[in-house]
Amino acid sequence: MHRSQDTSRTSSTTKRNQRRALSGILSQGMGLLIYAALVGCFLASASAQEKLAATPPMGWNSWNHFAERIDDKMVRETADALVSTGLKDAGYIYLNIDDTWEGDRDGNGVIHPNAKFPDMKALADYVHSRGLKLGIYSSPGPKTCAGFEGSLGHEVQDAQTYAQWGIDYLKYDWCQQPPSSVEQMKAAYTKMHDALTKTGHAIVLSLCQYGWNRVWEWGPSVGGNLWRTTGDISDRYSVMAEIGFNQNGLEKFAGPGHWNDPDMLEVGNGGMNEDEYRTHFSLWAILAAPLIAGNDLTKMTPYTVEILTNREVIAVDQDPAGKQGFRVAQEGPFEVWLKPTADGSKVVGLFNRQRTVEQMTVNFSQIGIPAEASIRDLWLKKDLGTFKNKYNAYVPAHGVVLIRIKSK
Ligand code: GLA
Repeated sequence: MHRSQDTSRTSSTTKRNQRRALSGILSQGMGLLIYAALVGCFLASASAQEKLAATPPMGWNSWNHFAERIDDKMVRETADALVSTGLKDAGYIYLNIDDTWEGDRDGNGVIHPNAKFPDMKALADYVHSRGLKLGIYSSPGPKTCAGFEGSLGHEVQDAQTYAQWGIDYLKYDWCQQPPSSVEQMKAAYTKMHDALTKTGHAIVLSLCQYGWNRVWEWGPSVGGNLWRTTGDISDRYSVMAEIGFNQNGLEKFAGPGHWNDPDMLEVGNGGMNEDEYRTHFSLWAILAAPLIAGNDLTKMTPYTVEILTNREVIAVDQDPAGKQGFRVAQEGPFEVWLKPTADGSKVVGLFNRQRTVEQMTVNFSQIGIPAEASIRDLWLKKDLGTFKNKYNAYVPAHGVVLIRIKSK
């Protein structure tokens, strides 16, 4: 009796153990399945993010030149100018309306444009008919930087409205006073990213919070395709240079789908000379920075068009390897920067930050090139020949010599 009781207890314990083991295996299996599904989702969204901005976004934004002086008419004129000047063919696809388009919310909380933009959907249709994409601007706070209606509490609704209009790009500008914790920022950007994703419409997400809280470390994880790394640029050499040359060290955070953004271009706005604008454009190309023009496209000098549409420099920026360049040498105001490109060549910028023309040298040993290499000047658009061990050039004041070096 005792024995049989024992035996039956033993056998029921064994069964229980077997059941436990089985349910353990099953729950482990479920766990693995869930894990695989989550990884799958993450990879799918990572690749969606990558596809959306495989190379740094290119386009135009209204803020740097026009600020609040924007309306439907000037956006249409800019769309026409993007096409007629050849900028669109050179890759400038996004036409981005910055702050001051926002009107009031209706009784249902739906945002409407103000009187400057009578019909945003019709405007988007027009921009699309020119083969371009339309971008818009908002803020995660109650107000935008210029004091207009922000998206706080209306994220899902706003994302849906943008998608209904046919918006393709959103600059989401923090506009609230510091200190803001990194958690607050991540939550706010994730909320909008999720809302945009839910619309099913591909919308590039541009984070703008001026590089606070080391955004480059978490920008991709909240769905950012690009994130501002600095405060606002202005149309002065000192400000542009301060921002551009300070990007060194951030190169490991950029890559296809997610880019450091040292702010929009000032080329053509009149505050710098030709050499300074070439420096600006070359540096942004080496940095694999978004190329978002910020000038009046209906009134460009030939040299502004020449700079903005230099295909060889644009190709440096848009290189498919997506590697952000970095500084390889500095001696006071003389800086040598390098960007390795997909074809194995090295693009080098010799930057002279001094006010006088100076001779500069790049030693091939500094950039990993064996003794002999052929060199092409990307602003002269000219092959310079074959060189041994180094290359010397006179670099204009505040200017640049930008070369592509191919080892022999
Ligand atoms: C901030 C941004 C600018 C611009 C303005 C608009 O200053 O950094 O690029 O968007 O807001 O108010």
